[in-house]
Amino acid sequence: MAKVAVLPGDGIGPEIIDASLPVIDAAARTAKLKLEFEHALVGGAAYDATGHPLPKSTLDLCDSSAAIYFGSVGGPKYDRIPDPNLRPERGALLPLRKRYTLYANVRPAVVYPGLEKRSPIKTEYISGMDMLVVRELVGGAYFGKKKLMKDSAYDVISYDRKQIERVLVFAFETAMQRRRRLTLVHKANVLLTSVLWKQVWDRVRVKYPKVKVDDCYVDAFTMYLISKPTAFDVVVTENMMGDIITDEAAQVTGSIGLIASASLGARRTRYGVFGLFEPSHGSAPDIAGKDLANPLATILSGAMMLRYSFGAEKAAARVEKAVRKVLSLGLRTRDLAGPKGKALGTRAMGQAVLKAL
Ligand code: NAD
Ligand code: IPM
Ligand code: MN
Repeated sequence: MAKVAVLPGDGIGPEIIDASLPVIDAAARTAKLKLEFEHALVGGAAYDATGHPLPKSTLDLCDSSAAIYFGSVGGPKYDRIPDPNLRPERGALLPLRKRYTLYANVRPAVVYPGLEKRSPIKTEYISGMDMLVVRELVGGAYFGKKKLMKDSAYDVISYDRKQIERVLVFAFETAMQRRRRLTLVHKANVLLTSVLWKQVWDRVRVKYPKVKVDDCYVDAFTMYLISKPTAFDVVVTENMMGDIITDEAAQVTGSIGLIASASLGARRTRYGVFGLFEPSHGSAPDIAGKDLANPLATILSGAMMLRYSFGAEKAAARVEKAVRKVLSLGLRTRDLAGPKGKALGTRAMGQAVLKAL
């Protein structure tokens, strides 16, 4: 039996995981895949219970699992923890990404038919948008040397060729399985790390002559993401730029409550690629505990887990089809319904997807 470490975390984390697990469990069963879901504390919840956001028992569970299914961590309460290394984001999420060298973070951003009006951008610009961002996840400013002093501070952005090459190869391979278009987003007019990214890019791209490539400065890219998002297929970029453009892409699709993610690395288990699967959004403290959160990003992240970590392509596709089905039936959570539209709660949306499965 394959084990999945389930880490609900903080804020809406427990709600969205509770609503999603039955869907993933049911889909796995249709593929004769027996998954054992074992829960553990992470983030602020773990800090409250043990004094550390990533206790050893949680790490042991992750080490012995084939995948991690993650809700979200953090919240205002935990921003006040005096030692920044004990705060949920820096003390739990980043160490997990680093521990398993999860260098490729995959975030699809799709405008679903019928949801066009939820985007703040006019329908004619966004209709049909279906892009996928590959964000480098274990390098750059997040993991460079950093220091906060009395009157100054620094975060060093550093990359080496190997770090860049492996994520570019991942992005090209991904593009080969999609519409064979790949865009590199960078800031090579200013940052020397971006100059290195472009050098490695030039070497890797010749190995993929079938992929149509272009590259773009990140500031201009944020404009194109609004003015012509349908022009993009796969987009690859470094860690912090990827963090920012994926939230922008999310909003263009209508709601971040729809944006799934998979964080993958080199580690293999007997079932597939080890990964951490979490929605791209955070713990949404403003709506936590109110049965208002959209669980679809978490459900779709679970589908990616079935695909990547368990090779259960059919089960994954089934979940994705069920999500499309509930959306096509007009079912909406509050973020998708707008302030006046009829909305389901988190639990009911999970149940609706389960039924559609
Ligand atoms: P957020 O993504 O939590 O929320 C931004 C906005 O989107 C809020 O208005 C929220 O209500 C809404 N939203 C987010 N997810 C939603 C969902 N599923 N359904 C409906 N609406 C949703 O970002 P934030 O407010 O900047 O961060 C809140 C906390 O989450 C912070 O502590 C941050 O560090 C943390 N965070 C954690 C992760 C993670 O665990 N992977 C990711 C991002 C942010
Ligand atoms: C994300 C989040 C995280 C990030 C935070 C919570 C550390 O914003 O997964 O996008 O910046 O990577
Ligand atoms: Mn983010």
